[in-house]
Amino acid sequence: MLKETLIKAVETGAAIMKEYFDQSFIISNKEGINNLVTEVDHKSEEAIFKVIKEQFPEHYILSEEAGEIIQDSNYKWIIDPIDGTVNYANRIPICCVSIGIEKDGKMILGAVYNPFIGELFFAEKGKGATLNNKTIHVSNKADVKTSCLVTGFPYTYLDEANGPLQVFDKLIRKGVPVRRLGSAAIDLCWVAMGRFDGFYEHQLQAWDSAAGFLMVEEAGGKVTDLTGKYYNPYQHGIIATNGKIHDELLNVINGGNL
Ligand code: IPD
Ligand code: CA
Ligand code: CA
Repeated sequence: MLKETLIKAVETGAAIMKEYFDQSFIISNKEGINNLVTEVDHKSEEAIFKVIKEQFPEHYILSEEAGEIIQDSNYKWIIDPIDGTVNYANRIPICCVSIGIEKDGKMILGAVYNPFIGELFFAEKGKGATLNNKTIHVSNKADVKTSCLVTGFPYTYLDEANGPLQVFDKLIRKGVPVRRLGSAAIDLCWVAMGRFDGFYEHQLQAWDSAAGFLMVEEAGGKVTDLTGKYYNPYQHGIIATNGKIHDELLNVINGGNL
């Protein structure tokens, strides 16, 4: 029932994203000038909550726009009602609903759905990852120089050593293709299915990566924080790769040469 409800929840949110995509909707700023939230983020979130509460009214929920519904439960739903809001607000169809479910503090299920290209990713701890019900695997690339990478940048510029621009600069100067799609959840799913060999980002929130990091692990990849240690989605930095390029990319991100 948990899996069915999770799938229904992402499908419900995604249907709302699709319904409003070609209509006018209100866009507001959260903080900074381009950290946006749309009316549709809230509608998607409300509809997702309704689906979950019908089946599991006692579960804990952490969601980007509404915050936390704290309950004494072993289960926690971590929700991004639209991941890729800036894309959505500009009618760029690279955006999705992303939901992860933790049990006793461990991610056990994840689903990411981009309704615009009809891609539904699903992962279950210990049971693998799928795209539209077909098993997916990470790529086989063995070095960073021949890899195709993806990253994202925070809404507020991070001025620090080995920050997002310095790492980007180093990779680009060596001719490594580094894409920037604008949806961390999709970035992670595309690593899981092998379109990208690796993803890194310096400042994510739990709802951005909850489902996607499980997807990469279950597709045979590796996910750590920016120091190479065990990843949990409450940390801000992430490196997610096919496993083969992980140490090399980790070294570059920490100031090493390529
Ligand atoms: C953002 C996207 C983006 C990433 C940002 C996130 P939002 O989430 O995932 O790719 O670079 O760090 O905040 O705001 O569109 O839900
Ligand atoms: Ca997000
Ligand atoms: Ca969001």
